[in-house]
Amino acid sequence: MSETYLVTGGNGYIGSHMCRLLAQHGATVHVVDNHAASPAEPVHGYGTFHRMDIASAECGELIAWLRPTAVFHFAALANVPQCQADPLRAYRDNVAGSLALFQHCVEAGVRRVVLSSSCAVLGEPEVELLDESLPLRPASVYGHTKAMVEQMLGDLCSRGSLDGLVLRYFNAAGAAEDGSLAENHRPETHLIPRLIDAHLAGEQSTFCIYGDDYDTPDGTCVRDYIHVEDLARAHLLAERWLVGKEGMHTFHLGSGKGYSVREVIEVFEKVVGARLPSRVGPRRPGDVARLVASVERARAELGFEAKWSLEDAIRHALASRLAMATTAG
Ligand code: UFG
Repeated sequence: MSETYLVTGGNGYIGSHMCRLLAQHGATVHVVDNHAASPAEPVHGYGTFHRMDIASAECGELIAWLRPTAVFHFAALANVPQCQADPLRAYRDNVAGSLALFQHCVEAGVRRVVLSSSCAVLGEPEVELLDESLPLRPASVYGHTKAMVEQMLGDLCSRGSLDGLVLRYFNAAGAAEDGSLAENHRPETHLIPRLIDAHLAGEQSTFCIYGDDYDTPDGTCVRDYIHVEDLARAHLLAERWLVGKEGMHTFHLGSGKGYSVREVIEVFEKVVGARLPSRVGPRRPGDVARLVASVERARAELGFEAKWSLEDAIRHALASRLAMATTAG
């Protein structure tokens, strides 16, 4: 592969795994990251880093100069509670930022944009498996911002200004198999890293399950966990699939299997070989009972199938966290 790709948010969790995969395929990678939602220093060496905001004039100049084959757009405020608490920042970073980025692409004649979106745009549809035909009914500020960005991209693609892919993730989990990249959000809100925190904190700590009175078999929320390396691979397949196509195309990226919070804890205990004391706390505002992807379209069109299991994701997340702690210490 001799293409040049621009990865916005390439210092973040999913973006960094994407950079690694592109570099492994021989692509030239450029990262645009303002480090507002990711560590202050680059977390990997897979590409040239440009510390700048996607909305800045410099970013427009960079895109015009690079003329990348495609832009993978991960940069966003992706922390759901933070978006809820600070809608101004959420709309500025996610919506205004994306609008400026799309404008940079149109002005530079860069056609292909791969948008990192989320099942949060769907709200809580009452069907078992969520497919791409469902209407957008976001139930959180974060979901609203992602739905708006999808809409903007869709309108630009309908007009023929861009060719777009909307990739809606379910729950990204795990880390690079070799432990070289990790999930590192501050503050951390996600289930698996918080289980690791509780496990590493030892006996002083009891893990809090946010509610067990949902309409699910064991009362705790059901989610579809997809390994971050599977996610990155799906992006590459989708970007290649887009070649020669026009318009905007949407894919759901998940494993197609749902696990309740209690089931995730059971798998976690199996991986670490120890019990994790837990208690049930109140529901977390904005959580919905069940979100599980229909993987049919991604399988049929992209030939994508998740390779790693939830157990693998937990094992890799734990190994990378321990590797990170060793490096830091
Ligand atoms: N949970 C706990 N305790 C914790 C942390 C999480 O019980 O300490 C539960 C949550 O209530 C939820 C499940 O674990 O039921 C998964 O929670 P995460 O925070 O890991 O993930 P979410 O399902 O909330 O978030 C994911 C994506 C978001 C996306 C959202 C859509 O990470 O990007 O789904 O609802 F917006």
